[in-house]
Amino acid sequence: MKSAETQVWTKEGEAKRQAVRQMFAEIAPSYDVLNGLMSGAQHHAWRAEAVRQIELRPGDQVLDLCCGTGDFMIPLRKAVGQEGTVIGADFCLPMLAQTEQRTGAANMVVLGDACQLPFASEAFDAVTVGWGIRNVSDIDLAHREIARVLRPGGRFVSLDMAVPSSRILRALSRFTFHHVVPILGALFGRTQAYRYLPESTDRFWTRDQLADSMRSAGFSQVRYKDLLLGNICLHIGHKP
Ligand SMILES: C[S@@+](CC[C@H](N)C(=O)[O-])C[C@H]1O[C@@H](n2cnc3c(N)ncnc32)[C@H](O)[C@@H]1O
Repeated sequence: MKSAETQVWTKEGEAKRQAVRQMFAEIAPSYDVLNGLMSGAQHHAWRAEAVRQIELRPGDQVLDLCCGTGDFMIPLRKAVGQEGTVIGADFCLPMLAQTEQRTGAANMVVLGDACQLPFASEAFDAVTVGWGIRNVSDIDLAHREIARVLRPGGRFVSLDMAVPSSRILRALSRFTFHHVVPILGALFGRTQAYRYLPESTDRFWTRDQLADSMRSAGFSQVRYKDLLLGNICLHIGHKP
């Protein structure tokens, strides 16, 4: 096996950070097309639901962390209006390059790591993360960083893969994600990268572990909401 895509899901700490960044750099050009194909374009509806949960107001300042190619920034911009601010942050330059092309000059993008955010404390009214937390090497630290950059009263929502609680749905999902998704990835020459999705989901924290981590980071009113029959889960929290 030739690249850092190889078994990225088994890595931890700094090795995971570097391997994940390289994997996203390699898939950046095909990321949007595959994302649309794999979700049947439903990801727009899931993002819209996440945006609803954080009750944005015109003029709000929002950080979209792990912004990738910027899909979340489009509904966020609509919600905060032209008087608001939407900043995307990601640690992978080739993903950010796609963002600038797609979302235009109104939104800013910043190169930065979720575990060491390059922003002042209490700078944002809300933080969103779409399919990002699963990839970071230290989830507790990322949650603490997100809490730090939020103002009191600020809201956080994270949207990510989850494992359904029902045994039948779990079996169906395992088949789809372990067998169908890598075939789609292979059509784009990215078999290993799209094995990462199911493998990293299987190893990902449970809903309650994520909620506990958010509480430990200082969030209150922590709750979660399943989407797509429990294959996707939104975690929501408030900074007191
Ligand atoms: C699956 S993509 C999701 C992109 C986008 N949020 C979306 O909803 O389509 C995950 C993104 O998280 C970024 N990422 C992973 N770990 C990160 C970290 N520690 N700090 C910043 N960005 C990170 C990757 O570079 C990649 O762009």
